[in-house]
Amino acid sequence: MRRLITVGSVKGAPGVTTTVLALAAAWPDRADEGVRPVVVEADVSGGDLAVRFGCPHTPGLLDVATAARKDHPGSLLGATAELPFGVRVVASPAGGRACAEAVRLVAESGQRVLLGEEGDQGTVVLDVGRIGAGVDGLLDAAEAVVLVSRGGADALAHVYAHLAEAGPLVERYLLVVIGPCPYGPGEITATLGVARVAFLPWDPKAAAVLAGHSRAALRTSGLRALRLMAAAREVAGQLSGGGEVAVAGLSADLAGLGAVPAQGGAVPHGLAGLAAKEAGS
Ligand SMILES: Nc1ncnc2c1ncn2[C@@H]1O[C@H](COP(=O)(O)OP(=O)(O)O)[C@@H](O)[C@H]1O
Ligand SMILES: [Mg+2]
Repeated sequence: MRRLITVGSVKGAPGVTTTVLALAAAWPDRADEGVRPVVVEADVSGGDLAVRFGCPHTPGLLDVATAARKDHPGSLLGATAELPFGVRVVASPAGGRACAEAVRLVAESGQRVLLGEEGDQGTVVLDVGRIGAGVDGLLDAAEAVVLVSRGGADALAHVYAHLAEAGPLVERYLLVVIGPCPYGPGEITATLGVARVAFLPWDPKAAAVLAGHSRAALRTSGLRALRLMAAAREVAGQLSGGGEVAVAGLSADLAGLGAVPAQGGAVPHGLAGLAAKEAGS
């Protein structure tokens, strides 16, 4: 079965689609046995990728929705198109009733198509736009829910209100804060009641590539790495369970200098690793 990661916001347009593409483009090669992730646009207010990249939305989300109710729905992979930077996407129309209906159908009974068969590998990164009524099924089926927000108090107040009503599902949430944020990770996790938070920088150069305005290379590492992509690589590493994060903070820095003994070196893989990293930073 594939792994499902649902990404959305609670208010506004903080950069969900950009984050989804950055994560998919930065997905570690070695994760999921080398199977590249598939991005699925399932935003009731309509998709952006077909317009931004001039790629087809047929086959796309509407076909996935049609297949969802069939006994043998076929593979999700038959509905993908490929973006210039190598990310596979299931695109959706830019809006309208058919699009909203398709999202509703996929949320209700599309898990089977999204998750695939027992032996299917890979990760589906689902862009639901706003997390609102009607996408519950896509949250329930997700291994992780990535909530994207800007970093100001006003934006985080909406996140707080949402998380307060998320119930047990809150354990699966990872809050991704885009751009400037005056608050530290410990303060955010403690105040908002979310276990994990990650920060992605405001990076117009990378965002322009991810919006189809530029064809620059999306380097994720090295001297010419784009800041958003380098940060997305770290988050993707954690979501895919393949990342290895050195413990940050004073004790790790002192251990690095040999001043104190190292405390276990790398922290566990997966989302737990991210939480541990934050706790130590
Ligand atoms: N990290 C970022 N750095 C710079 N610009 C960004 C970033 N994330 C999003 N943007 C820009 O913000 C606008 C909205 O982004 P988008 O991802 O479409 O938001 P949403 O999916 O939440 O509606 C786009 O112009 C996009 O290029
Ligand atoms: Mg969007």
